[in-house]
Amino acid sequence: DWTAESFVETTVAQLKQKIGDDKVVLGLSGGVDSSVAAMLIHHAIGKNLYCIFVDNGVLRKDEFSGVLESYKTLGLNVKGVDAKEQFYTALAGLTDPEAKRKAIGKTFIDVFDHEAHLIEGVSWLGQGTIYPDVIESVSVKGPSATIKSHHNVGGLPDFMKLKVVEPLNTLFKDEVRLVGKSLGLPDAILGRHPFPGPGLAIRILGDITPEKVEILQQVDALFIDGLKREGLYDKVWQAGAMLLPVQSVGVMGDERTYERVVALRAVTSVDGMTADWAHLPYEFLADVSNEIINRVKGVNRVVYDISSKPPATIEWE
Ligand code: XMP
Repeated sequence: DWTAESFVETTVAQLKQKIGDDKVVLGLSGGVDSSVAAMLIHHAIGKNLYCIFVDNGVLRKDEFSGVLESYKTLGLNVKGVDAKEQFYTALAGLTDPEAKRKAIGKTFIDVFDHEAHLIEGVSWLGQGTIYPDVIESVSVKGPSATIKSHHNVGGLPDFMKLKVVEPLNTLFKDEVRLVGKSLGLPDAILGRHPFPGPGLAIRILGDITPEKVEILQQVDALFIDGLKREGLYDKVWQAGAMLLPVQSVGVMGDERTYERVVALRAVTSVDGMTADWAHLPYEFLADVSNEIINRVKGVNRVVYDISSKPPATIEWE
């Protein structure tokens, strides 16, 4: 019978055998898959695993510092790279969702490639590819495309010529979580909602500016913290906020305001392929809405997305 413990034991032994004294580079995203893959490889080869965690400027509020800290606590050899400016430059003026995704993917590869070249004699690329990713890329994109086009790591530049090691490529998500648990990963990482690689860039409709990112980070944090406080976080599959490219009239004291609108989105789902809007308690929505409007400067209206997938998607872009 499959158990997480026996999987860890066998896999760590195989990784030791396969990698030997070579060096591996791996991009951490803060998500479950890359974190568990990193821990497995770390158990096999220790400091010869070089992890890179990139701040792309469109992460959640305080996520970069918080997640980097927990990776260090876990003993990973990890380098945090602040590339915010590079990403903002690449995103400047772009409004088309696919153009934003491409800009982020390309910038990530540039940053990752640059960092990988700073590691002397690295010969492997570690990836957190899981079984459904393998299936998806074989059926949709042909067997050569083993990296999802929208995956955080984006793709491997040809000239790097690294061998690929993917210790999770036979596992489903729930198995990955069990493996992570048996490796001592904290619930804060294992129970994390999925978060898209392009991050807040596809939740800010229209063009991206650092000012908009900051507004959305504040809104998102109030929503997510509220879900956690009320014990709702683990009941929804994914949640977040969208910054809409419209302004609306409001009133504050005697003043008429003309400010931004945000949409909150929370869904229940099994795999993200289909999803229902989460029937969050009205009281909770009322409290969060008040908190956002009172505390986030520049936002005067909150709406809740009650569309299911299909036909709506989870993200708005
Ligand atoms: P949709 O919006 O297609 O999203 O219903 C389904 C799931 O995929 C995530 N998503 C992405 N993840 N890069 C990613 O890494 C992307 O470009 C991307 N677009 C959507 C989305 O957050 C949801 O979990």
